[in-house]
Amino acid sequence: MRQYTIAIDGPSGAGKSTSARALAEKLKIAYLDTGAMYRALAVALLADGISPKDAEKVKELLPKYTIEVCFTEQGQRSLVNGIDQTDKLYSGEASMGASDVSKHPFVRQYLVGEQRRIAETTSFVLDGRDIGTVVLPEADVKFFLTASPEARAKRRWLDFQKKAEPITLEQVLQDINKRDKQDTEREVSPLRRAEDAYLIDSTDLSFEEVLAAMLEIIEEKKIVAYVEKI
Ligand code: DC
Repeated sequence: MRQYTIAIDGPSGAGKSTSARALAEKLKIAYLDTGAMYRALAVALLADGISPKDAEKVKELLPKYTIEVCFTEQGQRSLVNGIDQTDKLYSGEASMGASDVSKHPFVRQYLVGEQRRIAETTSFVLDGRDIGTVVLPEADVKFFLTASPEARAKRRWLDFQKKAEPITLEQVLQDINKRDKQDTEREVSPLRRAEDAYLIDSTDLSFEEVLAAMLEIIEEKKIVAYVEKI
């Protein structure tokens, strides 16, 4: 069967990674979480005492950082200079740091290049902010998955609760609003819906309903011969 790519973009907490992972599993293709690459870089910079916001310093040091991903049975691992950073990617500091570092055009140029190179190897679902607009404008299907800021904050907060992280719902909502603003207003590749992306608003949808909606569109577009429904 020919190779194909599926792009899922949207703001933080819309459920992109959960649906992308499930979709990839259903279709038996690979999944690349591009946000993890920005996060891994931010974590490495912070560990080296560098602010992800410091454009000059990040530009000077970027050539010294090699970001790689590998796909294991436990899912994607993200490495910086050979060191696996996966377990450190989801703190509040790493999230804001990733949003900060993703504003720099030279960082985007490097990571977009890597993402395209990875996506060339086999059929992939990729999720991020600029997959349908910049990384893979020719993707076979594009989804723009969104939800109200309140619904997204609630989901993130429940995740934090499971990990026993002491954070209030108000704080999560504030962080989400701050990242939304930064990700949609940045100059280079801001988060926006590609014209040909299917909009899915998951505010009042369950995970199963989102996945079913995506599978239906994929089937309609005849990208794969047969789609096993959920
Ligand atoms: O998807 P995520 O929350 O893991 O992404 C973390 C940050 O990385 C997000 O705030 C913006 C940035 N990002 C990006 O600019 N482009 C991407 N394709 C993916 C993530």
